[in-house]
Amino acid sequence: MHESRVPTVVSTSPFADQKPGTSGLRKPVTVFQQPHYLENFIQSVFDSLPDHEGQTLVIGGDGRFFNAEAIQVILRMACANGIRRILVGRHGLLSTPAVSHLIRKHRAYGGFVLSASHNPGGAHGDFGIKYNIGNGGPAPESLTDTIFENSRKISRFRIVAAPHCDLGRIGTCQLNNTEVEIIDPVADYAELMESLFDFKAISDLLKSPDFRMRFDAMNAVTGPYAKTILEDHLGAPKGTVVNAVPLQDFGGIHPDPNPTHAADLVAAMQGATALDFGAASDGDGDRNMILGANAYVTPSDSLAIIAAHAHLIPGYAGRLTGIARSMPTSRAADRVAAKQGVPCFETPTGWKFFGTLLDAGMVTFCGEESFGTGSDHVREKDGLWAVLYWLNILAKTRMPVSKILAEHWQTYGRDYYSRHDYENLDIATANALMHDLKTQSLNGKVFGNRTVTMHDDFAYSDPVSNQATSGQGIRVIFSDGARMVFRLSGTGTSGATLRVYLERFEPNPQAQDIDTQDALKELIILSREISGIEARTGRKTPDVIT
Ligand code: G1P
Ligand code: ZN
Repeated sequence: MHESRVPTVVSTSPFADQKPGTSGLRKPVTVFQQPHYLENFIQSVFDSLPDHEGQTLVIGGDGRFFNAEAIQVILRMACANGIRRILVGRHGLLSTPAVSHLIRKHRAYGGFVLSASHNPGGAHGDFGIKYNIGNGGPAPESLTDTIFENSRKISRFRIVAAPHCDLGRIGTCQLNNTEVEIIDPVADYAELMESLFDFKAISDLLKSPDFRMRFDAMNAVTGPYAKTILEDHLGAPKGTVVNAVPLQDFGGIHPDPNPTHAADLVAAMQGATALDFGAASDGDGDRNMILGANAYVTPSDSLAIIAAHAHLIPGYAGRLTGIARSMPTSRAADRVAAKQGVPCFETPTGWKFFGTLLDAGMVTFCGEESFGTGSDHVREKDGLWAVLYWLNILAKTRMPVSKILAEHWQTYGRDYYSRHDYENLDIATANALMHDLKTQSLNGKVFGNRTVTMHDDFAYSDPVSNQATSGQGIRVIFSDGARMVFRLSGTGTSGATLRVYLERFEPNPQAQDIDTQDALKELIILSREISGIEARTGRKTPDVIT
């Protein structure tokens, strides 16, 4: 395959809907399969990167339907656009955090992550593409805006005609002057994990007969990573990792690690025979859920507990500079930051807002309520990292998850927290609901024994880049510190999804053991009243509660 191929310039016309959302461009597979749809978006990315020629890129995805096909197209377009070297995971597989790590490790110019994260896959499921920049993180809004602008005026794309590269074989494949390297997707990531955690202590824990755990890879990309690290390197019993083979349609499930979609795992963690530790990850391996015997750790608490235990973890001891959380995430992490005397930043939803803070060394840990936790080791959230971090905490403290939670709440107080999602709403109805929530006058209003002390639409100015972002969610904060936040999802592909985030603080250790939905009952009722959800949409209850 060494003959010289001249790039073909193909004329095309724009699609109007290629605006990247919270996390890249996500659409049904059938949309991506339209002639030129994928090519237009990829060319719009190259057109937004003025100095990409001669550079290195990383490409990989979560293995969902259309992954391998899309990679072959991107390889031929990258070649035609002058990219010199491309690293691709074998079979086109790379978890999102692994892409981030490879970009950083190889000082690549950037990378393409092919995934629609936790959205269902298959021929009738979703597909997605996210461009990550040289720091390993998602493109900032300034770049995604440029990509969108370019996609609206595109008139041609470049591609070379070439046979497919064999993605199943480790080695190189030459496309003109472009060298495509097919690499082991797991090795570099596993080495990074070993450099951060006390593998000896974790291994002792996993081999001990009175510790039983399960990791549910949800038929998605983390399977090979978890099997290699937990079972092969750390010696967990075979079978610890379940649903470990990545499937194109994830076996028909939503690969989303939350109590609704990982119900089997949740069931195994309950009752007298409950396992000691349970965890799951999502389609592309950046999300995580942490469970103990009869204990569920909210992602917001997980971030706080991770930060509070940094002194026990080799990669983090003595170097906590700050914490960042997305605005709708509970304020549990703020309490840890205050106690440690470090800042806590509140950013808009989406990992792309953490990048500048991480690059500037202003934060060590970041997290979102949507089952995302991570640190400065990469520039994405990282599911398996969070699981290993928790295992390291358990190995050092030898305490059950429930006790770690209870002690944390005793020290810092408990932030009761829940998110209620109303999916597939009519878009105009959802927009009207948000508009009225924003414009009604709530400040100073009294509801029961609570008064509204703040009501706004969250806006953010990045402390490093000074980039301003507005319209990031309606906040209603009460005199006792309780809070509700309303926002529309930016990752859905059909209709609108309304997310309602509810929380209240409970400092009294005697009152920290209430069921979350009971503890938040008054706020839940109030949130429905204020927004008029039922009257507007006919929905009495949410579709998903996390
Ligand atoms: C959702 C989550 C957000 C996360 C994103 C990508 O976005 O809420 O925290 O960063 O998925 O995983 P949303 O659909 O709310 O815009
Ligand atoms: Zn994901």
